[in-house]
Amino acid sequence: MTRSGVHLREITDDNRDAVCALRVRPDQEGFVASVTRSLADAAATPEANPWYRAVYSGDEPVGFVLLSWNVPPGRAGIIGPYFLWRLLIDVHHQGHGFGRVVLTQIADVVRADGATELLTSYQPGDGEPWPFYRQFGFEPTGEIDDGEILLRLDLSGR
Ligand SMILES: CC(C)(COP(=O)(O)OP(=O)(O)OC[C@H]1O[C@@H](n2cnc3c(N)ncnc32)[C@H](O)[C@@H]1OP(=O)(O)O)[C@@H](O)C(=O)NCCC(=O)NCCS
Repeated sequence: MTRSGVHLREITDDNRDAVCALRVRPDQEGFVASVTRSLADAAATPEANPWYRAVYSGDEPVGFVLLSWNVPPGRAGIIGPYFLWRLLIDVHHQGHGFGRVVLTQIADVVRADGATELLTSYQPGDGEPWPFYRQFGFEPTGEIDDGEILLRLDLSGR
């Protein structure tokens, strides 16, 4: 399947187990929580307005994304309004351009919702995803959140 077949799908009883079976490389586990953990975090943090989808290549689940969606200002401990909280592409599907396509689609859907910027953060360390985000156009905000480096993608001119 090519990158043109990459799309986001809702997670339901029909595909939840398959999406929860997705894995990153063992050395990447410090950079992102599992899908199961992310779904639990989303359920436990309704004030973050969690929005999540499975990433599909054709009919095959290949990744997962979790965002905070249009969070009103002033919610303690919640970064927003639009914050990319988790992004992972399964180990068997990395390096084929899926991550970049998904990021493009996420940027499109949040901009269509009125977002002018998309925030994210990463844990620094060997194999960190910073080069991936930098290539895409994210820039450091200069802030650190709980040891994670905050990044911003300007959507106003895209
Ligand atoms: C980061 C991640 C989502 C990228 O997905 P992917 O589908 O492998 O990325 P792509 O194939 O679209 O790569 C796009 C570009 O970024 C580069 N890239 C991707 N991951 C990279 C990494 N960890 N370090 C350096 N460069 C990386 C690719 O080489 C490619 O560059 P190129 O076009 O010059 O070859 C995926 O590697 C992943 O799930 N990593 C573990 C979890 C993680 O770190 N998530 C982000 C923090 S929540």
